[in-house]
Amino acid sequence: MRILGIETSCDETGVAVYDDASGLLSHELYSQVKLHADYGGVVPELASRDHVRKIIPLINKALADANTTKNELDGIAFTQGPGLVGALLVGSSVARSLSYAWNLPAVGVHHMEGHLLAPMLEDNPPAFPFVALLVSGGHSMLVKVAGIGQYEVLGESIDDAAGEAFDKTAKLLGLDYPGGPLLAKMAEQGEPGHYKFPRPMTDRPGLDFSFSGLKTFAANTIRASDNQPQTQANIAYAFEEAVVDTLMIKCRRALKHTGLKRLVIAGGVSANTRLRTKTAAMMSDLRGEVFYPSLAFCTDNGAMIAYAGMQRLKAGQFTELSASAKPRWALDSLPAV
Ligand code: KG4
Ligand code: ZN
Repeated sequence: MRILGIETSCDETGVAVYDDASGLLSHELYSQVKLHADYGGVVPELASRDHVRKIIPLINKALADANTTKNELDGIAFTQGPGLVGALLVGSSVARSLSYAWNLPAVGVHHMEGHLLAPMLEDNPPAFPFVALLVSGGHSMLVKVAGIGQYEVLGESIDDAAGEAFDKTAKLLGLDYPGGPLLAKMAEQGEPGHYKFPRPMTDRPGLDFSFSGLKTFAANTIRASDNQPQTQANIAYAFEEAVVDTLMIKCRRALKHTGLKRLVIAGGVSANTRLRTKTAAMMSDLRGEVFYPSLAFCTDNGAMIAYAGMQRLKAGQFTELSASAKPRWALDSLPAV
C-alpha cells in the first residue's frame, strides 16, 4: 500500500510518499523560516498563504521523486490538527479535494502522533511499549505508548512548551526565529559553572512541566549581565543545561513509574545534541534503550504524517470528507489501531 502524506500545521510545508513494503519513497519540505524571521515568530496569516503557494508544486515533486502517480496511491494522509487553524485548513482542504477527485480515502493524522511515530521510519525502530517524550515548539508531553493509538498522557507542560522556551530565550539573547537551534549552537561556546538556572517542578512529585519561569530567569540574568559574547554563551549553556536536566529528570521518573526501559524522544527539540547525548548516557546507565528520529524528521515533516496515516489506513480508519481541521485535539482521544 502507498500513501501521500501532507503536513501544514505550522510554518513548514511537508509532503512525502510512503510505501508499506518499500518504506519512504520521497519527502519534500519547504520551510517558511525566512518569511517569519522579520517578525520574530510565526505570523499565522502569512503561514497559510505560503502553504497555498507551495503545496501543489511540492505534491507534484514528491510524486515525481517517488516515481509514482496517483494511480498507485491507496490514500492521502494530512495533518488534521493540532496547529494553526488557517495552516491546517490548507493541507486538509487540498488533501480532501484530492481524495474526492482521485477517489481515495483521506486519513486525518494527529500531528503529535506523527512526531511520536517518526522513529519508526528508522532502521532500528522501537518496539512497543515505550515512554515517549514529545518536545516541540507547541507541546511538551510524556506519554506511555502501549501501541499505535494507545496513548496515556503522563504529564505535559502547564505553560510554555520546551521549544517555545528555547525560542523565547533565544530571542532575549538577540537570536533570530526559531532560536532553538541557534541557542544550542551558542551554548557550544559556553563554559559550565557561571550560571545556575532552576530545574522547574523537579522538587515535587508528578510528570508535568513548566518552562515559562526559565524564560523570566533568563531575562533577569541577561539584564544583569555585561552582554559580552562569552557571557551570552555562558547563559545559553546554563539555560540549555537546565532544560535538558529537567526533561531527563522527568523521563527517568516516567520510566520508573511505568516500569518501562524504552524511551522515545521526538519533536523539534529532539534534534538537540545535548539532549541526545545526555539521554543516551542515562539510558545506558538504566540498561535501557533510547530512540530518536533522524535529524530531518525531528522537526515538522511530511514523512511522519505519511507513516502515521499508513498505520491508520491499514486499520481501515478513514476520515469523512466533511471532517474539519482540529486546531485543538487531545492525543489520548485517538482510537487504537
Ligand atoms: O516539532 P517542531 O518542528 O514544530 C512544532 O510542532 O512545534 O518543533 C520546532 C521547535 C522550535 O521551537 C525549535 O526552536 C526547536 O523545535 N528546535 C530545537 C532544536 N532544533 C529545533 N530546540 C533546541 N535545540 C535544537 N537543536
Ligand atoms: Zn511539530
